[in-house]
Amino acid sequence: MTPRGPAPDGACTPLHPTQRIVGPLAQMHRAQIERAQWPEFERFDAARYDPELRHQAARNWWFRARQEYGSVLEFSALLHALTRVGAPIELTGALGRLITDEARHAELCRAMTVALVGEERALSLPWEPIGMPYPPAPQGGAESAPEVLAWAADVLLTSCCIGEAVSRPIYDALIAVTTDAVPRDVVRQILRDEHLHASFGWYALEWLLPRLGGPARAQLDRVLAVRLGSFERTCSAGVALADLVDKELVIEPPAEDAAPNLGTLGAEAFAMIFYATIEHDILPRFEALGFDALRAWRTRHTE
Ligand SMILES: [Fe+2]
Ligand SMILES: [Fe+2]
Repeated sequence: MTPRGPAPDGACTPLHPTQRIVGPLAQMHRAQIERAQWPEFERFDAARYDPELRHQAARNWWFRARQEYGSVLEFSALLHALTRVGAPIELTGALGRLITDEARHAELCRAMTVALVGEERALSLPWEPIGMPYPPAPQGGAESAPEVLAWAADVLLTSCCIGEAVSRPIYDALIAVTTDAVPRDVVRQILRDEHLHASFGWYALEWLLPRLGGPARAQLDRVLAVRLGSFERTCSAGVALADLVDKELVIEPPAEDAAPNLGTLGAEAFAMIFYATIEHDILPRFEALGFDALRAWRTRHTE
């Protein structure tokens, strides 16, 4: 039901991203998210699976919906800042595409959660408020461009280059281990866009770097060490790099009689993919852009 005006006591009606609305706005949203084949959620047979397995998977999908919604916030703040200082239309146009993709991903993950445990149960799952993991963009018009570009470089480096580059192989692995066609299709649809998102980050940062002043560029090297440290803390989920020495990650399609998997990945697999992506993809790309990325990784830390 669409909230209409303030509540009787004058307080604002609380909002939640997963609230449904009806009418033209919902139709516009549906047209946007159905621009590619929408997964056949009605074919998901929940009764085939143990309720505990479904609930555990639902918590994962709900968490992902929140993360995807968080990407809408980060990318729209980036778009707003870059547009304010007159960034090229091509850059803002491409970034606009990313925002609509992330809204679509949030909807896909929400729908998967509902397919797993039903609407009522899904809506009762915890959804922590979304916050920006960055300070606010510097204010001002075109004259603030140097500060805004330095701020944007941090967001691009963190959310697009590292964040999107890590999510790609995670989703690749999820496709491999998921045993049911519906959640696998959901992951596949998200993954198709994440390839583009990571590429956007690297191209946009390449465009931006020569436009930074010397001090801002030097600061970005220090920022990289902090961002790498923060990602490690989040993605390794308590699994230390030393614990993974001599371990080999084998992600392969499940055997016929494998235990069902509805789109979840264990903490150790997650950590191994993170470290492998850092070593083989992210650090070499930062090096190619002129960062001393190996040093940043060696000296990584959290604030
Ligand atoms: Fe996404
Ligand atoms: Fe993305």
